[in-house]
Amino acid sequence: MNFQTSATTLRQQSKAFLSDMANDPRWALTDMDFQTRWTEIQKEIEATGTYTHSEKELTFGAQWAWRNSNRCIGRHMWRSLKVHDARSAQENKDIVHALGQHMETAWNDGQIQSLITIFAPRHPRRLMEPDPVRIGNGQLIRYAGFKQSDGSVQGDPASVALTQHMLDQGWRPENRHAFVPLPWSIWTEDEEHPPEDVFAKCPQWLHEVELTHPEWPGFAELALKWYAIPAISEMALVIGGITYPCAPFNGWYMGTEIGARNLADEDRYNVLPAVAKCIGLDTSSPRNLWKDRALVELNRAVLHSFDDAGITMGDHHELGAQFEKFCKVEARGGRAVTGDWSWLNPPISGPSTPQFHRAFDGRVSPHTNYFYQSSAAEDAKARKRGAKNGSTPSADPYDLEHHHATPRCPFGHG
Ligand code: ARG
Repeated sequence: MNFQTSATTLRQQSKAFLSDMANDPRWALTDMDFQTRWTEIQKEIEATGTYTHSEKELTFGAQWAWRNSNRCIGRHMWRSLKVHDARSAQENKDIVHALGQHMETAWNDGQIQSLITIFAPRHPRRLMEPDPVRIGNGQLIRYAGFKQSDGSVQGDPASVALTQHMLDQGWRPENRHAFVPLPWSIWTEDEEHPPEDVFAKCPQWLHEVELTHPEWPGFAELALKWYAIPAISEMALVIGGITYPCAPFNGWYMGTEIGARNLADEDRYNVLPAVAKCIGLDTSSPRNLWKDRALVELNRAVLHSFDDAGITMGDHHELGAQFEKFCKVEARGGRAVTGDWSWLNPPISGPSTPQFHRAFDGRVSPHTNYFYQSSAAEDAKARKRGAKNGSTPSADPYDLEHHHATPRCPFGHG
């Protein structure tokens, strides 16, 4: 694939997007409106090599991209995504301000609001130009992982590399423990700013839930907790062929993301042995299914604790049933729903949800979607190297193959 988006592709993608928008009755686009706007877009592409989304297009586009996200079990709520337009934020302080507003709006007193904040797009014909804004963090809130001298990790092993990088950049965390939120790595024009230790400065933006179990009082002694808002900040949003490389978005958690992956995976917090011990299970053989029992109790603790704190959280049965209903309604209306079976199934009790028993069309809608991309650091480096050699980087900015192959889990259950 070519790094440069050709004008033809851009025209096709913008047209496909605009007609998807016209099919959504909420925007009441008449044939006339469509033609007028489409002519305008073509002219703009001809003159400038790109086009600018209106506020409405930005809103519909981000929502439609969510609906097209094959791995997400929550996208029946796609119309409820709120959009903050931060395309004009250029300076570090404006970016921090926009992200702070994101944290506040998303929190909404625990009734989590699905929200995306969209920063400036990349010019589709000038890919050697630095990205205006990027975030180096995978999520706006994530716990650090401090590598200890004995090789073990204090905190989240998934964050070891970023944690080390932040320390190298001058981050001085006040305390080190298992749940220290990472500072933000903000990039403008391909340059990284010093670590922004935002939750140390603005603790009101950090909401966490300490885990307790409805039946085992001793569970609290495990001193486990998790943050309330999952906000992916490393993916690119593409709307009608235009890439927004920085567009952090959040929904709310499904319990299993925390209870069956983040805290349970052996290469994450790996707490199942401790949970088993706490509830008195015999761990001498896997054959008595102690892991399975510990998993269920850990997941009950997660749901119970979020409920107790009054913070929105889905469970796999509820979300599974809602998504199934969505698939049926859409099918009746003749609207395709694509999906990725391996992600739509929860990491526990798959066959007890309707997704397990359904086949999904795995095609990826390319003109409007969320895509993995290389990191802010990698992109900046590639562009600088390219600029020096006078050549263009060969990698595609949003790589569909990579999208399929990557083992990481920004949506859904990982
Ligand atoms: N799985 C990721 C995590 O556990 C979050 C992905 C987004 N999840 C969501 N419910 N919107 O942190």
